[in-house]
Amino acid sequence: MTAVVSGPREIKKVGVVGAGQMGQGIAQVAAQAGCDVIIVDAAPDFAQQGVAKIKKQLDRLVEKGKLDGAARDATMGRLKHGSTHRDFHDCDLVIEAAPEKEELKLAIFKSLGEVCKDDAILASNTSSISITKIAAASGRADRVIGMHFMNPVPVMKLVEIVRGLPTSDATNATVTALAQRFGKTTIGARDIPGFIVNRMLIPLLNEACYGLYEGLGTAADIDTGVRLGLNHPMGPLELADLIGLDTCLAIAEVLHRELGDDKYRPCPLLRQYVAAGWLGRKVGRGFYSYDPQGVKS
Ligand code: CAA
Repeated sequence: MTAVVSGPREIKKVGVVGAGQMGQGIAQVAAQAGCDVIIVDAAPDFAQQGVAKIKKQLDRLVEKGKLDGAARDATMGRLKHGSTHRDFHDCDLVIEAAPEKEELKLAIFKSLGEVCKDDAILASNTSSISITKIAAASGRADRVIGMHFMNPVPVMKLVEIVRGLPTSDATNATVTALAQRFGKTTIGARDIPGFIVNRMLIPLLNEACYGLYEGLGTAADIDTGVRLGLNHPMGPLELADLIGLDTCLAIAEVLHRELGDDKYRPCPLLRQYVAAGWLGRKVGRGFYSYDPQGVKS
């Protein structure tokens, strides 16, 4: 049965798939905007830890005087963790923020399409994978859309909204209105690999890896060059560490494969770091090393 969906709908309950750094950030901004939120991760303990980490973020805001204790408690009251996709049965919208692997995302959307209520919208935070393909796996293609948040989600002001070929106007209107309710500015991007932001960013990060690989300078030289010479808030290598080198490589591979242009070929050094498990901040080592408090050396 196909649901009739007209105009922007109010979204009361949001499900989040994946409790990594993006899933946590998305859950936080949704709960702060007044939505009930449930997070589910393939590893149930991880979902619970994700909720605990969001509490830490909110505690920090309270310590800095940017949030009052009552607002933190109300936000935490809206945040729950679950253990299976079936826990999303009463969600109006589910946002997927799982690792950047096509097979995994297709399987998740197939499962979400089966368990979510008929008029629920399914969004993917994918950085590069085709929304049209993801939508086809869901069995409800007109109610699937890309909702691409930037890292760190609570701080970054942009959400890229990516319509797949079959995405309906009503789905687009609802999700755009919701992102704006989260306090974000939205842009629309076509469903072409990398969309707008990563089509610009990933070649820059990859080129910085080539710079390091070819000995143009040290990691610190390259980052300082871009920070001070181009006035970027972070250098490309430290930004790659923040995003996760596995994610950067996965996006570079999609650009290379899907656009078929060798200018997007991933740097061998990036592949080697990922092979070594040096994935960036989240594991304490990437182009730089990080102590448990995240201090870089
Ligand atoms: N979570 C929540 N808040 C955070 C945070 C995090 N992980 N990291 C920093 N912040 C907050 C800080 O608490 C601080 O808040 P206040 O001003 O309220 O005190 C504020 O952000 C600024 O932080 P800092 O003073 O510590 O450091 P900064 O001024 O250097 O800012 C930064 C940090 C916001 C990360 C900034 O360096 C920046 O904008 N970097 C670029 C980030 C970027 O490009 N992100 C996009 C990546 S691409 C992507 O995500 C898409 C993709 O698909 C790959």
